[in-house]
Amino acid sequence: MDVKPEIKKLLEQLEKKYSAIDQDLDTHLEGLLYSEPMTYWDYIQTDALLNLQTQRTTLPDEMVFIMYHQVNELLFKMILWEIAQVAHSEDITAEFFSTKLMRISRYFDMLTSSFNIMGDGMEVAQYMKFRTTLTPASGFQSAQYRKIEFASTDLINLIDARFRETIDRNTPYEHALEHLYWQAAGKDYKTGKKSFLLTAFEEKYKNEFIAFTKEYNTINLYAKFKELPKDVKEDPKLRKAMRHYDYTVNITWVMAHYHAANKYLNTGDEAVEATGGSEWTKYMHPKYQRRIFFPELWTAQELEDWGKDV
Ligand code: HEM
Repeated sequence: MDVKPEIKKLLEQLEKKYSAIDQDLDTHLEGLLYSEPMTYWDYIQTDALLNLQTQRTTLPDEMVFIMYHQVNELLFKMILWEIAQVAHSEDITAEFFSTKLMRISRYFDMLTSSFNIMGDGMEVAQYMKFRTTLTPASGFQSAQYRKIEFASTDLINLIDARFRETIDRNTPYEHALEHLYWQAAGKDYKTGKKSFLLTAFEEKYKNEFIAFTKEYNTINLYAKFKELPKDVKEDPKLRKAMRHYDYTVNITWVMAHYHAANKYLNTGDEAVEATGGSEWTKYMHPKYQRRIFFPELWTAQELEDWGKDV
């Protein structure tokens, strides 16, 4: 049999690849004789993916709730995937940084603009029933959402504004985590007592969060941005992308989520208690949380007015 030059070249490359790991090319080529041809369903793992939607009640709209949360978690994973690439790259150009940021922002834009799937897509009466079954679980306990925050900015920008002055780069991680803005959802600061929402979440993820924040301490998006040469930092396209991302995550998405919560949990004279039990009407509003990933990118006035006009 005539071996075409392209095939010969491929064989040489394969020989090189396998000999580098002390493997026999013949055996690997023979294995190809018996390997299954690729199919869409195996590659995308559709069977596994479509078997993850388990309702806990008989109410059909619970399926909307479960699946939309799963869609969110998949997009969170895509976001973390992009952030990791920026974080672990050296010699970043403005083009690379802004291209990645725009990808990340597009994913978050999608989460924001699709939130009406929650807001308009379930019957309030059904939600009010199945929520009792999922209590005390809450989206608050999404670890990937928290990781996006840790990977986006310096830890100090996620500390509850009331305690920022007491915390700096030398503060132990454990102590800093105790003062994150989201502790306010379930901690009584006078007694130190935490709600079940918070204790269950920390029991599961605290160690993972400490390791993750350590990893991103100097390579989070904001830290990477601050390291860039002055001319790259001033690139208008990059600055626009940074501001867009910050605003989308910390104002637009937060407000889309807040309005959905309002629709389902604030139907009478008074807001009903959330599944996670926080005082959510206050806790979740951006004007109270004042969560800003890239403070250097906003004017003093913009920082002061954060979340006030939404
Ligand atoms: C009708 C739909 C929803 C309602 C009524 C709702 C309500 C709430 C409430 C009241 C909280 C405050 C914590 C608590 O006490 O439970 C919360 C937190 C949270 N929820 Fe949702 N939520 C909804 C959908 C979603 C979706 C689809 C996601 C996407 C994963 C999500 C992610 C989160 C996150 C990340 C937090 C923490 C926010 C923070 O700490 O600022 N929620 N939600």
